[in-house]
Amino acid sequence: HLSINQYLRDHIRTVPDWPTPGVQFRDITPLLQDAKVFRVLIDAFVHRYMDPTMRPDVVAGLDARGFILGAVVAYELNIGFVPIRKKGKLPFTTVEETYELEYGSATVELHTDAVKKGDRVLLIDDLIATGGTMMAGKKLLERLGAHVMEGAAIVDLPELGGSDKLREAGLPLFTLVDFA
Ligand code: PRP
Ligand code: HPA
Repeated sequence: HLSINQYLRDHIRTVPDWPTPGVQFRDITPLLQDAKVFRVLIDAFVHRYMDPTMRPDVVAGLDARGFILGAVVAYELNIGFVPIRKKGKLPFTTVEETYELEYGSATVELHTDAVKKGDRVLLIDDLIATGGTMMAGKKLLERLGAHVMEGAAIVDLPELGGSDKLREAGLPLFTLVDFA
C-alpha cells in the first residue's frame, strides 16, 4: 500500500546543481508524462476543491508550471482559469508585482479584468520555495479585490521558509509532497 503522497513523490525527479550549483531541483515533468500519475495528481486537487465549502470561483495559475496544473483543475471544476504571467507577456492593462526568487528576481503581471471584486480564487503553482512567487500572485489578486481562498502546489520546500511565510500572511496552503 502506497499513499498518494508517496506515489507522487516517487515520480518527482531531483536534479542536482540545476540551474545553479547547490540547488536540488525538484522536477515535476515525470508526473505529467505518465497518464496514470498525471490523473492521480489532478484528481487529488479536484477532489479537494469539488467540495461545496471549498469550491473556488476561478483558478489563477502562476507562470509557467502553474498553467499546466491550474488549467486542467479549472476545467475539471467547470470554472474559469486566469494566468499570472512573467512581465511583458500580457497584452491588456495589467497590475504588476516584483519579488525575489531563490535565484534572481522577477516581475509578474495580471490582467486588470482577470477577476472581479469578491471572487474566491484558488492560486496554483507546481512548487513553493521562498514563497515569493505565490505571495506576488496573492497581492495581485487582492489588489483587484479578489479573495485568495487557498494556495495549492504539488511540492513544498519547507526549509526555505516560504510556506510558513505564506501561512503567516493569512494564506491557507494545500501541498502534496514535502522535500526537506
Ligand atoms: C519556479 C516554480 C515556482 C517558483 C517557486 O518557477 O515553478 O513558480 O519558482 O519559487 P519561490 O517560492 O521561491 O517563488 P520559475 O521562476 O523557475 O519559473 P518557470 O515556471 O517559468 O520555470
Ligand atoms: N524545483 C522547481 N522549481 C523551483 C525549485 C525547485 O527545486 N526551486 C525554485 N523553483
